[in-house]
Amino acid sequence: MPVATPRTYLMCEPVHYTVSYEINPWMDVTRHTDRDLAVAQWRVLRDTYLALGHTVETIDPREGLPDMVYAANGATVVDGVVYSARFRYAERGPEGPAYQKWFADRGFLTHTADATNEGEGDLLAIGDMILAGFGFRTDRAAHTEAQELFGRPVISLELVDPHFYHLDTALTVLNSDAADPQIAYYPPAFSAGSRAVLERLFPDAILATADDAAALGLNAVSDGYNVVVAPAAVDLAAALRARGYNPIPVDTSELLKGGGGAKCCTLEVRGSASAPGTLEVS
Ligand code: ARG
Repeated sequence: MPVATPRTYLMCEPVHYTVSYEINPWMDVTRHTDRDLAVAQWRVLRDTYLALGHTVETIDPREGLPDMVYAANGATVVDGVVYSARFRYAERGPEGPAYQKWFADRGFLTHTADATNEGEGDLLAIGDMILAGFGFRTDRAAHTEAQELFGRPVISLELVDPHFYHLDTALTVLNSDAADPQIAYYPPAFSAGSRAVLERLFPDAILATADDAAALGLNAVSDGYNVVVAPAAVDLAAALRARGYNPIPVDTSELLKGGGGAKCCTLEVRGSASAPGTLEVS
C-alpha cells in the first residue's frame, strides 16, 4: 500500500527561462518561449508540493543561466551529503558551483565532483542503492565517485535514445523504501543489458508506453503515494492508479521546450545539514 512521506525539495524559479542554445533534441531556439507562463506553471508545481505538506526551498535564479530552473541537475543529496554537479556543456557549467554554494552556505557537507555528472538527472537514490544513467551527460567515472562518497551500491544503466538523455526522463522512482522499492520506466530508452538489469531488480515495475515517454511522463515526482506527473501521460496515470498511487497532473508544458518536466525542476534534499565544510574522498 503506497504511503506518502514528507519531503524537502529545492527549486529555482524560471525568471530567466528561455531556450537560447540546443543541448538536447527537445530544445529549438527558433521556437517562442513564454517566461511568464513558465513562471506560472512552476508556481503551480511548487504550490502542489506545499499543499501536499512538503517543504520547498528555493535558490536564487541567475541571469544567463536559463536552464537553472532544472534544479534536479544541480546536485545529488543523500544522507545530508552533497555530491556536486559538473555539467557536460559549458552553457550550464556555472550551475554546479551555484548549487554547491547553496548547500555549503546552509551547513551541508559538500563534495566537489571530479567526474562529469548532472546531479539527480542521472543519479536516482532508491532504497539502499543508486540507479545511475550514462550515455549522454554523466560519465561512468561519476558512478564510481558517487558510490565511494555515499557508500551505497551504484547500478549503472546505459541510456541509448537522445530524447531520454537523463535517467530521470526515462525512469521514475515511485517508492524509495528499501523494503519495497518501486519504479516506472520506458524500456526502449535503455540498452538491452540495462533493460535486463532493470527486469531483474524490479520485476514488478510499471512499464511506460511510448506516449507516456513522449510527454516526459517519467519525469515525475513521487512522495511514495502522490505522483506529480505530466497530464498527457494518461497511460502512466492509469497504471499508477491501478497500483494504489495518486497521480496528480501538473502541466509543465512550457518547461518541456527546454527538455524538462516536473522532476527536472525538483531536487530532493535527503537528510539534513550536519557540519559545514567540504568533504574529500580519495
Ligand atoms: N535544457 C536542460 C538540459 O538539456 C534540461 C534539463 C532537464 N533536467 C532533467 N533533470 N532531466 O540540460
